[in-house]
Amino acid sequence: MSERRTVLLLHGPNLDLLGEREPEVYGTATLADHVAAARAAAARVGLELEDLQSASESALVAAVHGARGRCAAIVVNPGAFTHYAWSLHDALAAFDGIVIELHLSNPNRREAWRHTSVVAPVATGTIAGLGADGYPLAIAAVHRLLEPHPHPVRPPSGPAAGPEATA
Ligand code: DQA
Repeated sequence: MSERRTVLLLHGPNLDLLGEREPEVYGTATLADHVAAARAAAARVGLELEDLQSASESALVAAVHGARGRCAAIVVNPGAFTHYAWSLHDALAAFDGIVIELHLSNPNRREAWRHTSVVAPVATGTIAGLGADGYPLAIAAVHRLLEPHPHPVRPPSGPAAGPEATA
């Protein structure tokens, strides 16, 4: 079992408007609802949750730096930063834990500019298109990757649960 038990949940720009913003795309739950659901899911498996929402790329990069050596995992919905924020890519590449990229919608079913994720190459895995269910699923994924399991996602001799090679 990993000694680190804290998950950092990060949200990028405009996600503070969830509940009001394009509810037909993102649903009617607020950011506070999603954070509460993630925190409850984390508590059920003995994990602590910290969270930050910011429209500032530098604030998110600083939060990722602050998680190094301290947090077991980062769950990040980068909002539109997903598609172009290379500084967030680089910060996550330097994070020594699990990274779950999370989206409420499925960006690959939407406009072409949303089809590129600069976060995906440094994510352990991505959850997208499952709406509010994505939050407890992301926490479950972190838990599953942290705990010894009879049918592990990765073979015991395989690479650590960090980023794979980046093109
Ligand atoms: C989003 C998808 C992004 O393309 C968009 O810019 C967002 C939200 C999602 O959760 O579906 O702000 O990350």
